[in-house]
Amino acid sequence: MMDPNLDEKTKLIQIAIEARKKAYVPYSHYPVGAALLTKSGKIYTGANIENAAFSVTICAERTAIFKAVSEGERDLQAIAVVTKNGGTPCGSCRQAMAEFNPNMKIYIANEKGELVQETTLKEILPGYFGPESLVQ
Ligand code: THU
Repeated sequence: MMDPNLDEKTKLIQIAIEARKKAYVPYSHYPVGAALLTKSGKIYTGANIENAAFSVTICAERTAIFKAVSEGERDLQAIAVVTKNGGTPCGSCRQAMAEFNPNMKIYIANEKGELVQETTLKEILPGYFGPESLVQ
């Protein structure tokens, strides 16, 4: 599978910008949008959803990943994440990504749609604990 080209990256970032508008963030006021591309070519969106019981909050990235996987799409190719300032995925979201594709591409963009960082899961989560690690 080829990496997404420039147009596809731009498209994924634009979709994440739209998804970010659906964030429910009454506590942090820090909306996050995600757009996840599967190897079959489908795109799943996500936004962060906060809760008065703070620890119940779910990040945008995991919303998108769980939507995809719950629809039977486990082959994750790339994810665009949009925040105000180009913030990077949290540790829990990195771990969720590692389960499905350590080589997946990550496009980190700011609210203007500018690509701030392009990386892979492996690069930002070296030494990850994955399915292969779970030997008995
Ligand atoms: N958040 C995400 O949605 N993704 C991340 O990778 C970092 C943090 C959310 C969680 C919370 O709603 C807000 O951003 C502030 O932490």
